[in-house]
Amino acid sequence: NKRGFIFDLDGVIVDTAKYHFLAWKKLANDLGIDFTEHQNEQLKGVSRVQSLEKILDWGGISISELEFQNLMDKKNSDYLSHIETMKEDEILVDVPKVLTFLKNKQQPIALGSASKNARKILKKVALYESFDAIVDGTNVSKAKPDPEVFLIAAKELHIAPNQCVVFEDSIAGVQAANKADMISIGIGEQDVLGEADFVFKDFSEISIEFLTQLINKQ
Ligand code: G6P
Ligand code: MG
Repeated sequence: NKRGFIFDLDGVIVDTAKYHFLAWKKLANDLGIDFTEHQNEQLKGVSRVQSLEKILDWGGISISELEFQNLMDKKNSDYLSHIETMKEDEILVDVPKVLTFLKNKQQPIALGSASKNARKILKKVALYESFDAIVDGTNVSKAKPDPEVFLIAAKELHIAPNQCVVFEDSIAGVQAANKADMISIGIGEQDVLGEADFVFKDFSEISIEFLTQLINKQ
């Protein structure tokens, strides 16, 4: 039996969600806008453009297109400064174990991320070769919660959407997986990711038995 296993990147494979948070918080605070962890949850999985739109909206600020572009560039270079020195030790707990298990079971594996920095990050943590397909922010036109990124990933894996499983740490991403008719597995808190079919704190909570059941499920 073959299923498509699709992984989000930030906050699922690597611990970069904290760097996105730091960069957005700095930008917001510099603009005199308050930025809480709760607001941050609403930016997870959301594209760079839409994230900035939301922040400006929260602050009731409107700016020119040029200034908007400048702020996007600023956020990204700040973010990149955090990931510059990133190494394999920032891969989240038990991710390699799960990837190796799925590979040994000949299950197709894809990345489905909104980030335009996804390929760069995968190379930094030496996981670039672990995926049969990589779909990221450079390959999509519609951001999560639109299912486009996961549907393209399924297509590239040659697996029907309803035979795919998605691992996501964001509300938008779980919604995208659900809309794509895929099994959604939330990585994080139940009270945040309650819309997912299953929620685990991290991959150390996901057993080999559970993965085996997913593979064999009709
Ligand atoms: C991921 C993160 C978001 C981020 C988005 C775009 O989905 O969860 O926080 O805004 O990617 O990332 P990028 O690296 O292109 O700015
Ligand atoms: Mg994420």
